[in-house]
Amino acid sequence: MAVALGRGARGPGSPMDVPPVLSSTFVAGGDYVYGRDGNPTWVPFEEVVGALEGGTAVVFASGLAAISAVIESLPAGATVVLPSGAYTGTRRLVADLATRGRVQGRLVDLTDTDATLAACEGAALLWLESPSNPLLEIADVRALAEGGKARGALVAMDNTFSTPLLQRPLEMGVEVVVHSATKLLSGHSDVVMGVAIARDETLVQSLRSRRSLHGGIPGPVETFLALRGLRTLPVRLERAQATAAELARRLEEHPKVEKVRYPGFATIVSFDVVGGAPAADKVCATVQLIVPATSLGGVETMVERRGKVAGEEHLPPGLIRMSVGLEHVDDLWADLVQALA
Ligand SMILES: Cc1ncc(COP(=O)(O)O)c(C=O)c1O
Repeated sequence: MAVALGRGARGPGSPMDVPPVLSSTFVAGGDYVYGRDGNPTWVPFEEVVGALEGGTAVVFASGLAAISAVIESLPAGATVVLPSGAYTGTRRLVADLATRGRVQGRLVDLTDTDATLAACEGAALLWLESPSNPLLEIADVRALAEGGKARGALVAMDNTFSTPLLQRPLEMGVEVVVHSATKLLSGHSDVVMGVAIARDETLVQSLRSRRSLHGGIPGPVETFLALRGLRTLPVRLERAQATAAELARRLEEHPKVEKVRYPGFATIVSFDVVGGAPAADKVCATVQLIVPATSLGGVETMVERRGKVAGEEHLPPGLIRMSVGLEHVDDLWADLVQALA
């Protein structure tokens, strides 16, 4: 699907890829009117992501724009149940909206299914993220989705870490999925973009309305680049996942590593180094091949001591989140060994 879908009509001389359409407005009378409401470049990307996740995809300017569109669809004063280990931006957004009475946030431990469902009583939205960031804890998504819906909450899930190739939340009962397409979907650290996927037509229309009303649209060049990256997602993911599993195994045996967190799938490995924050900072400053950077999901392996990020001070101080890319596993290991030394 990643390779075959999202192509234009095939014919002699037709372009291999749908070219980016750099137009803010369109001649009246056709399918497209104005660039904030629709651009033909969005269609192939939405077709591929929609097919992979099993729903209808709606592109956004960033992952956070997609998250905002879901939250903005809630009525005034609605209660949002979200994991205390949710992506910092999601937590900050809910906290910011709460200061103005727009929504109320209830933080939960998503690994405690009963407590999370108890918190869903009277809530309008249950927000899921599994594996969590950066502790990589796993939640019982099916039970939470079923229980959340039974209590009247809309169930949404951030699937950025897994991608639809490893986890398809819509098939597990989740109603709307979001991605930071900035990460694994586009995969080359050159685009900021987001996408939301749902099956229910009313929900899809609501997401499209939020996009037009709030203006959180991706540019055609970004969308074109994101689709180019998406074409290779299956092979990138396979390689990065195999490398992540091997690095997690080797780190387990390293004397300077206190704890390794790897859920057994996907491309993020978190590890706590002996010596806490100063030691972890030193590792991040000493890596040569690996890049000290805050993002994840690119072809480059990146590390960050997450506890130094604003809002993440509660994390183990020596925890390093490593997003594994496509370099050779032995080159990455050699770099980690010299930095840990
Ligand atoms: C899990 C997760 N969700 C959402 C986002 C937000 O996406 P974006 O930076 O594209 O707005 C991020 C960004 O780091 C993320 O890691």
